[in-house]
Amino acid sequence: MMTFQGSHILSVSQFDREAISKILSVSAQMAPYAMRQKRCHVLEGAILNNLFFEPSTRTRVSFGAAFNLLGGFVRETVGEENSSLSKGESLFDTARVISGYSDVIAMRHPKMHSVSEFSQGSNVPVINGGDGANEHPTQALLDLFTIQSEMSPHGKTLDGINITLMGDLKHGRTVHSLSKLLSLYNDVNITMIAPNDLQMPDNVISTLENAGHKVTLTDSIEGNLACDVIYQTRIQQERFASPDEADLYRGHFSLNKEIYRQYCKDHTVIMHPLPRDSRPEANELDTDLNDLDNLAIFRQAQNGVLVRMALFALTLGVEDKLTQYEKPI
Ligand code: CP
Repeated sequence: MMTFQGSHILSVSQFDREAISKILSVSAQMAPYAMRQKRCHVLEGAILNNLFFEPSTRTRVSFGAAFNLLGGFVRETVGEENSSLSKGESLFDTARVISGYSDVIAMRHPKMHSVSEFSQGSNVPVINGGDGANEHPTQALLDLFTIQSEMSPHGKTLDGINITLMGDLKHGRTVHSLSKLLSLYNDVNITMIAPNDLQMPDNVISTLENAGHKVTLTDSIEGNLACDVIYQTRIQQERFASPDEADLYRGHFSLNKEIYRQYCKDHTVIMHPLPRDSRPEANELDTDLNDLDNLAIFRQAQNGVLVRMALFALTLGVEDKLTQYEKPI
């Protein structure tokens, strides 16, 4: 079993099934605190520095909320222009300095592998909140937690799951990380629907195929949505040379209630890492799906708090002390 305490969380590749199982079980233990049924102050006095050098709503706020829910303080830097990185300071120097002010650091940055580079200067655990088009490990873990909890009432597990990933699979870091995690399970049937130019990178497909999974690549929705989970993604405009280039791909795979009824199974759950692009030209998930019980997107976002609480508890070595530090509501 990997040692969590003091470790950086940079890539899903650092986990085996046992480690993931530990993260998912500690995440489930966080539910009473996240739902305000109990309080826990196990991280009282500890400081999270949340460094977000790229826009974020869910990841940034849920990291902060997760740390607060365990009793800790949160300090935030948002935007590179508000950091001395904009004066030419290196990621290494920034990390060495900020880690002196922190017990743990969460970071998002537009450059691939930048969070790993930053972690080399840090004296405290660093958690990757997304590094360019590379990875988004905490999103993948919350996605896995969501798939497990959504499928459990149907008697299904991660082994044998039938999942369709859809949209901008080339640039979407969440689907890269999720696919790598799914490669650790058995008999996964994974369909990837994307325009040819935006298909999943070869290295991710190879990881799944080498694990013995069935991978189907297609650019058509028809006949490919009768699965357990549809994971829709956004066209990642910020990774294209221009918005005009991104426009070429928007709206190819819009999903609405009529398409859902026509092609999906009764139990098919719809996920999306969010934000969903609701503009008419994109309309990735139509708002007419909002009253569908199987639309899991908001439960999925909520699960981010549980998983991030678990990662803080594990990296700071307090996961066995939660009940000891409970307070009455
Ligand atoms: N899913 C996700 O990473 O959302 P944000 O960009 O809002 O953090």
